[in-house]
Amino acid sequence: MNAAPPLIAFAHVSKSFDGGRGAKPVLAVDDVSLDVAGGEFLAIVGGSGSGKTTLLRLANRLIDADSGDIRVEGEDVRAVDPVALRRRIGYVFQSGGLFPHISVAGNIGITPKLLGLPAAEISSRVDELLDLVRLDRAQYRGRFPHELSGGQRQRVGVARALAARPKIVLMDEPFGALDPLTRDALGDDFRDLHRKLGLTTVMITHDMTEAILLADRIAVMRAGRLVAQGTPAELSKSGDAYVGELLRTPRRQAERLQVLLPRDGAA
Ligand SMILES: Nc1ncnc2c1ncn2[C@@H]1O[C@H](COP(=O)(O)OP(=O)(O)O)[C@@H](O)[C@H]1O
Ligand SMILES: [Mg+2]
Repeated sequence: MNAAPPLIAFAHVSKSFDGGRGAKPVLAVDDVSLDVAGGEFLAIVGGSGSGKTTLLRLANRLIDADSGDIRVEGEDVRAVDPVALRRRIGYVFQSGGLFPHISVAGNIGITPKLLGLPAAEISSRVDELLDLVRLDRAQYRGRFPHELSGGQRQRVGVARALAARPKIVLMDEPFGALDPLTRDALGDDFRDLHRKLGLTTVMITHDMTEAILLADRIAVMRAGRLVAQGTPAELSKSGDAYVGELLRTPRRQAERLQVLLPRDGAA
């Protein structure tokens, strides 16, 4: 058995939100237990409102759990200063989450600046990060977010998340709003970064095909509950009807592609 402790561990975690105006509270995360091993790339898949974002935000204490236990690198997150915790965990927001009135360099360098690094060091770190996410330094440093394509914005978002050299990266539907080719290129590039930097990555997606192609392991959420977790091969053996439903599309695509696109084609 693998004795290494998980890098992120959720144990019986629940979180509800006030429904507002006398409505019933919403149980956004319902008794979830999930371990993420060091170096693992885990995808969280589930429909809209299934609690994916809430689970991710609990890990870096953007919100606090009602009950249960969350550990990051073995430490109870409640015992850690949230700001210090967030510096150890890179976070890529759904729509990039860049500050619109700050340049690319300013956005990427925001955490190093908060950490009080000297300007020259920040500047060279920004260049290094631009290289890492494959954006030309000279061309992109001074641009503003509205002068970038969606894919470029997400690359800047990834660079910013990596600025303080975190071991853990959390990504909330990072490639969701992109066209398929851009999305594919970015997914592959991030997968390479994950390996090269020895990261532990948790990525939310509503796209099971993307999860299968990028992640080592997949956790499936539905109505706040974790209904299944495992490798794609393990999930395909799950008896859960919802998991079966989620796997139907990638399966059908794979079968049709095999027929329509013979392996010995010219391109
Ligand atoms: N800050 C909040 N206040 C009230 N309800 C919330 C809040 N955040 C999330 N919720 C509710 O919790 C449930 C899960 O939301 P979320 O975690 O964002 O789902 P997902 O990311 O899977 O779409 C939803 O019903 C949502 O409306
Ligand atoms: Mg969400």
